[in-house]
Amino acid sequence: MDDSYLAKAFHYCLIEILLHHQSNFARLKRMQVDGILDRHFVHAASIMLGLMKYYVRTYGCQMNVADSNEMGRHLQARGIMQTEDSDDATVLLVNTCTVRQHAEDRAFSEIGRLKKWKALKPGRKVVVTGCAAERTKEYLEDRFPHIDLVVGAKSIEDFGTLVEGLLERRPEADDLDYATPSTSDKVSAFVTIMRGCNYSCTYCIVPYVRGRESYHPMEQVLAEVRDRVREGAREITLLGQTVNSYHRDGNRGKGTDFADLLEAVGAVEGVERVRFISPHPYYMTDRVIQAMADVPEVCEALHLPVQSGSTVMLKKMQRNYTREGYLELIRKLRRSMPEMTISTDVIVGFPGESDTDFRETLSLIEEVGFDFGFVFKYSPRVGTPAAELEGFPEELIEERHQECLSLMESIAAKKRQRWTGTVQDVLIEEEGFGRTRGNAKVAVQGNARVGETVPVMIARAEKSTFGHWRKL
Ligand code: 5AD
Ligand code: SF4
Repeated sequence: MDDSYLAKAFHYCLIEILLHHQSNFARLKRMQVDGILDRHFVHAASIMLGLMKYYVRTYGCQMNVADSNEMGRHLQARGIMQTEDSDDATVLLVNTCTVRQHAEDRAFSEIGRLKKWKALKPGRKVVVTGCAAERTKEYLEDRFPHIDLVVGAKSIEDFGTLVEGLLERRPEADDLDYATPSTSDKVSAFVTIMRGCNYSCTYCIVPYVRGRESYHPMEQVLAEVRDRVREGAREITLLGQTVNSYHRDGNRGKGTDFADLLEAVGAVEGVERVRFISPHPYYMTDRVIQAMADVPEVCEALHLPVQSGSTVMLKKMQRNYTREGYLELIRKLRRSMPEMTISTDVIVGFPGESDTDFRETLSLIEEVGFDFGFVFKYSPRVGTPAAELEGFPEELIEERHQECLSLMESIAAKKRQRWTGTVQDVLIEEEGFGRTRGNAKVAVQGNARVGETVPVMIARAEKSTFGHWRKL
């Protein structure tokens, strides 16, 4: 019998003993500190016994939600399972957002509170990731010495390697960089197809913290889609900062663009619905519109950020389209898909926004008749061109925000009424809840199973429940 076999057998026996003693991670760590157990053994035993769990807090957009899922898959591939209870966790991951000051402040105050959490049990680790981590890495490390690892948004794809050091374990040949198996059975799954942004909208910090655009190869995207379907997904949301700018060069000029990708994803066995966020109006080409209309799996719902209804403001924001251009695009989309629900993002109080500019935003909201919209107060981000401009007093921004928000909501409420009395295909995402193709969240009575698509009569449409994107 060779030594390695004996060593393994010894370890399994020890694990058996630990199991019967109902060991927990803190107890194992204490034994390590006391010199009773070796640290590699403690680590291996914790993973084998399923004692190491991670808890993740995500701030910000869907891109961040997808990044959290991706990092979670890396941890799961290393035997560390997810928990919904931070008291139970050994690794706590805070995935931060920096798009507006408010989002950053909330994440930082949570990180501050984690000092106590960490001190409660030995061996706990705090990992801070995402856009604010990219922007303020040194500051975070100085101000919060209890952080064990900072991974900026540009390095999310290296998370697997970075986390190895933290977990005191060497990577193995079969640790995949992407599409690592997950135990999640989410009916609706995100798949990242591109990272970064080549635009330079003058208010936006994203290009600084996420870098230039890079596109995942089509084969990788399709492999991930198939993985998610195998895990139970029926709906795939393709993600990217300007998702519809997707393109890859191919041989002899035969490249792939976003329209090709929509078609290929729709054709994957088991995919019932395809969505994407967030498209940029500039890349909403006729080809993409045609693909949306032709591929039956692509849902008739579009989140198309407009930011402002004033061409003067759009120019100052460097959005690369005009008010008229945006309205013409909406007309085209509606001609092609009359039932399409359309939602948007708007920023109020951008430096130099006159009362006339602001009224133009209100009138555009009325003219389009959005089904849903986020209204954001402009937040200056250090390093962006707009942050150099003179801003408005908070009261004025607040006033415009209120006015714009109530208009958006009243229009959305009216638009929702058109569903009342109709029958919609609803994909059940969790017990009692599902979503229409138009992206309205519906409370469903009856015993439809999760993952099933069922026809549902819409009895009432009074609550503002459009969209599964969350407020940042
Ligand atoms: N201030 C306010 N809103 C912003 N957004 C991006 N940057 C800022 C900023 N500095 C909004 C835009 C974008 C959404 C994700 O966040 O509306 O579409
Ligand atoms: Fe920011 Fe503009 Fe890029 Fe969107 S397109 S991420 S708003 S710079």
